[in-house]
Order: sequence, then C-alpha cells, then structure tokens
Amino acid sequence: MRVARTIAATRGLVRRGGQPVVLVPTMGALHEGHAALIRRARRLAGPQGTVVVSVFVNPTQFGPKEDFSRYPRPIRADLKVCRENGADLVFRPEPTEMYAVDASARVDETSLSAHLCGASRPGHFGGVGTVVAKLFLIVQPQIAVFGEKDWQQLAIIRRLVRDLNFPVRIVGHPTVREADGLARSSRNAYLTPEERAVAPGIYAALTRAAAEPTAGRILRSAGRALAALPGARVDYVRLVDAETLEPATRLRRRTTLAAAVFLGRARLIDNVQIPPRA
Ligand code: PAF
Repeated sequence: MRVARTIAATRGLVRRGGQPVVLVPTMGALHEGHAALIRRARRLAGPQGTVVVSVFVNPTQFGPKEDFSRYPRPIRADLKVCRENGADLVFRPEPTEMYAVDASARVDETSLSAHLCGASRPGHFGGVGTVVAKLFLIVQPQIAVFGEKDWQQLAIIRRLVRDLNFPVRIVGHPTVREADGLARSSRNAYLTPEERAVAPGIYAALTRAAAEPTAGRILRSAGRALAALPGARVDYVRLVDAETLEPATRLRRRTTLAAAVFLGRARLIDNVQIPPRA
C-alpha cells in the first residue's frame, strides 16, 4: 500500500495503477463501517483494480462552532485499517494541499441540501460537495463508495454526479452497526459510558416507529421515543422521500425515517428505509 500526501503524487500513482479505480472518501478515524466500505471497494476493483482511500478532515464542511479541531486523527491506526482491508493507495493531504488560501469556487447542491442536516448545519453540504468533487477530479475513479448512514450525503452526491456529469458510479453501502444496533460512527468516541448506553435507543426508536401503519403514526412514534431518551436532545426527526428528501405524508414511494440527536458532545445521525406500501 502506498501513501501520498500531494495531489501530483496521487495522480501519478493512480495513472500507473490498474483499472478500475475505486475511491472511498473518508475523514479518517476509521472504524468497522469504513473497513466494510474499503472491502466493498476491493471487491468492486477486483484483483487488478486500484482501491484509493482518501483520509482528509475537510475544514469546509464544519461550522465555526463544530468539532473540526477536536475531530480524531489517529493516522497510524487509520493506515492499518486501510492496509488490512485491501487499499492500494491512501491519499492524505494537508488542508493547504487541497485549498488555496484564497479559494473561492464551491460546488453547492441547492435542493436536497435544504432538508435534514442541511437545515441544521448551514454550509455543511457545500463543503462536502466541494471536497467530493475535488476528490473525483484528483483521483478520477470509475466507482466511489459511500455509507448509507449518511443517507442525505449519499443522495446529494448522486445528484451532483447526475447534474454535473461526473463519470463515476456511486455505490451505497449499508450502515454497519454495533451488536446493540448503534450505527458505527467516528463521533461515537465522544460518548461517555452513560451516553453510550442510551445511544442504541436511537435506532430502536426508528425501527419500532417504521413498523407503524401510516406516515403520521411513524413520525409521532419516532418523535415520542427519541424525546424520551435520557439526556438526549433531538435536533430533528423527519419522514422524507428517500430520493428527493421532501417531507413525506404518504408511504406510496420509498421513504426514509431520519433523525439527528445530540447526546452530550456527540451529534449522532441515523436512518431507516421504509419500502413503498400500497
Ligand atoms: O462522510 C464523510 O466522511 C465525509 O463527509 C466525506 C464524504 C469524506 C467528505 O469529506
């Protein structure tokens, strides 16, 4: 496995590597969820292809009061996860390599980003869209793999690819969970033992609610159960169309029940998918 710190070195190594090129963009602090994405990328690339993992804590997707400076950066452990799960190349640039000091161009998706996390974190998805577009242009993958835990991010990236004609196939990978249902996330590291004991209640609330017969009952059930979690502050809980992310009042199309919940210092997101019902 090679490690590149510059865009030029990454381009050179990718050019000399085999096809297809499969990219797994990450912000590091890699856990079993990322490991599953890298293994999926390895299977998609096959023995001849090139699996590239980017490890970059992207400053432009953090708000001024968010956790950019304290976001975990365990690079030695991250490189081990990449190596053990089949990466060929890790691209780990410094922010100065990715952004000119006077950078003034951005990639903003303006419809799906208005909902859910986009409403609570203004500018977040502009930062995500910009860095993902840059990674696509630097690495030029044929395929890129993203986790379904960040359902809105995945939907927005699919939209960017469609609307800007990036020649990349986007593959979504199912959320990897702890044995008790908690979605794997780098931010779980912020939880105290007491908060960690409460956290699986988020997924339990969403799955129980998803079994209710109507859109209204699903939303009410999820709202009540999340609000009852000890120490939790619900940022949002919404039932939305799985593709457009518009609020859903019926279950005729596939819907997503999505929530963001603060537990202490951690803001945790999760979602469940609800297939269309007659
Ligand atoms: O999902 C993430 O870790 C990040 O938002 C991404 C896609 C790597 C962009 O920085």
